[in-house]
Amino acid sequence: MRHEHAIERYIDEGLPPHAVQASMNPRPPRRALISGVTGQDGSYLTELLISKGYEVHGIIRRTSTFNTDRLEHIYSDPHEFAGPLFLHYGDLANASRLRYLFEQIQPDEIYNLAAQSHVRVSFDQAEYTADVVATGALRLLEAFRDYALVHGGHPRFYQAGSSEMFGASRPPQNEHTPFYPRSPYGVSKLAAHWYAINQREAYGLFISNGILFNHESPRRGETFVTRKITRALGRIKLGLQDKLYLGNLDARRDWGHAADYVRAMWMVLRHDSADDFVIATGCSHSVREFLELAAAYAGVDWRTCVEEDPRYFRPTEVDALEGDSSKARRVLGWQPEISFENVVQSMVEHDLELARQEQTLLRAGHKVVHRRAMYA
Ligand code: NAP
Ligand code: GDD
Repeated sequence: MRHEHAIERYIDEGLPPHAVQASMNPRPPRRALISGVTGQDGSYLTELLISKGYEVHGIIRRTSTFNTDRLEHIYSDPHEFAGPLFLHYGDLANASRLRYLFEQIQPDEIYNLAAQSHVRVSFDQAEYTADVVATGALRLLEAFRDYALVHGGHPRFYQAGSSEMFGASRPPQNEHTPFYPRSPYGVSKLAAHWYAINQREAYGLFISNGILFNHESPRRGETFVTRKITRALGRIKLGLQDKLYLGNLDARRDWGHAADYVRAMWMVLRHDSADDFVIATGCSHSVREFLELAAAYAGVDWRTCVEEDPRYFRPTEVDALEGDSSKARRVLGWQPEISFENVVQSMVEHDLELARQEQTLLRAGHKVVHRRAMYA
């Protein structure tokens, strides 16, 4: 069930600056600002930080439909989490607003998770992807630099880097592997990565890069391949859909769980010094292997319903990603706790339940519109 009015109350649109500040906890143990808070990782990170006593501020985009689905439960069950979440309208395309938010919120930790994060879409919207992912990160970094230098207090900045930056470099990939991005998204993430390093070196600021390999969950966007597969298998199992159209089944990815990976982000910023870390499980699987396992959990014969569709091929593909995260394990003490099998199983179970709910609504005569992935 949605609680749209409840969540809207917390968005500070139209409030004068003093009212925004007055509504905040005057002395939280630590205050975090998250861009991309409405995304998969943003929602898990919000839960983690609140459970650790943080006051969390999230930047959300104004959209014509609600984009806060992944955060609704944080409002609807206030007893489950220890602290408050504040949401502020903003966009990585809007530098003046980012500066305003730094001044008003005065965060101790900043997590830059906002991105046009779909690799296939980045070929269609390369310029836009660069504006948000590369220049957007620079806008946030520059606002952070000016805030940190004036305000003091040694705030810390996390930049969400990606294994897509390694692209064509052969696995296993670690912090010493040469970058060779294969998409506008990968190129833009690499620019953001170097902007972050340059600001760290130029101004002596605490700015760290995570280089995260793929991480999934039941909250994964439905156009990424894992969720596209589990969502479709759930619907096929219950007779709500016949076919699943996919692209390259041979690509290999190192898939972990988002909850483990946001814990790594937090550990990166709690480390003594700013640095860059690869975060990965160290095991890779092909898309076909993911499909086979998911279909087995769902009880579906995937060979009868999966078809190849060239629209889902990429102009340049990243064939194999498998991370070597030994530095993060040694220096931070991080390691993943959720296995590949559990990632797949939890996604299949979640999406079977969604399909059951859809079936119940249909049987009761409701019209249900299922959003299908387009070119992604
Ligand atoms: P996601 O689910 O696609 O979330 C992206 C977030 O960015 C959403 O909150 C989105 O808002 C927001 N956003 C997009 N454009 C924006 C803009 N112009 N201004 C402000 N916010 C904007 O991504 P994710 O999987 O959580 O990933 C989080 C970050 O890690 C991303 O930077 C991604 O590129 C990076 N990353 C992800 C993975 C992975 O496997 N998940 C691996 C490596 C790196 P809306 O909700 O309004 O769309
Ligand atoms: N999306 C999608 N849809 N991918 C497909 C499909 C399909 O129908 N069929 C095959 N694939 C293949 C893609 O070609 C790719 O090789 C692989 O599945 C994974 O695709 P995605 O799930 O879209 O993820 P990604 O690896 O391209 O990018 C994700 O991981 C990056 C980290 O390596 C995103 O989360 C990025 O934001 C992230 O940085």
